[in-house]
Amino acid sequence: MPSDLQCLALIQEKTDFNILFYKTIDSTNLEAKKLSGESYPEWTVVVADHQLSGRGRHGRTWHSPEGKNIYMSLILRPHGFRFPSNLLSLVAGISILESIRDFLKKDNKQYSLTCKWPNDILFNFKKVSGILSEAVFRGSNIEYIIVGIGVNVNMSFDDMPEELRTTATSIYIETGRAYERGILIKKILEKYKIFYRMLYTDREGLLRIWSENSDTLSRKVRAYTVDGVLEGIAESVDERGFLILETETGRKVISSGDIIHLR
Ligand code: BTN
Repeated sequence: MPSDLQCLALIQEKTDFNILFYKTIDSTNLEAKKLSGESYPEWTVVVADHQLSGRGRHGRTWHSPEGKNIYMSLILRPHGFRFPSNLLSLVAGISILESIRDFLKKDNKQYSLTCKWPNDILFNFKKVSGILSEAVFRGSNIEYIIVGIGVNVNMSFDDMPEELRTTATSIYIETGRAYERGILIKKILEKYKIFYRMLYTDREGLLRIWSENSDTLSRKVRAYTVDGVLEGIAESVDERGFLILETETGRKVISSGDIIHLR
């Protein structure tokens, strides 16, 4: 295992996360799905050093060079009631954002770290992390949800394909320093557990934290949805994690899609 991931063994020993490490894999989400079907328990985490076919949202690919970034997928088996997978992405979003912020505290520098609805993390206004949540249903109940998390940690511009260079970044690119991926993974998982519990105990508080860290709210945005393109002011995120947009023709609720910030 690469030296900066070696603390994964400690997480495995000291917590109830069940960490499975792969040197190279097609996609951690695909592997986690397979393991879920084989009854692996909640809080199983698939981590890889390299993905051959990393998957992004809407069928896109997720650039996953070896030894540089975080590629991991969490298996969750929410009981009791159905969580829209949007909410699990928002939980991941604030867990990642707060973990990176904690990580950089000692730098004493001003960085902009924000959540962009539904599930991007922006570092100095460029994408540093993406989340791909995939739910599998049995009848109308959720059997399991896979939360796939990609964080660009130590990737340099040279590691990136040309077409990503204007919109994507990494922690290394923004700070000029390389970081231990294992420590960041540990922080993200610990925070994920805390915020996940808040879904049951204090969803309002959770949405407040997300909103305070969001760059989307109060802005004019363009939303690409299955029903077409809409423009308006992003007003809030409701208790399902859906975006409420105030448009010229009234309030619209957007359950999924991509948005761009217009101003
Ligand atoms: C996005 O399009 O923004 C979502 C990207 C999600 C990437 C992560 S990397 C780990 C996990 N495995 C995958 O194949 N995708 C997710």
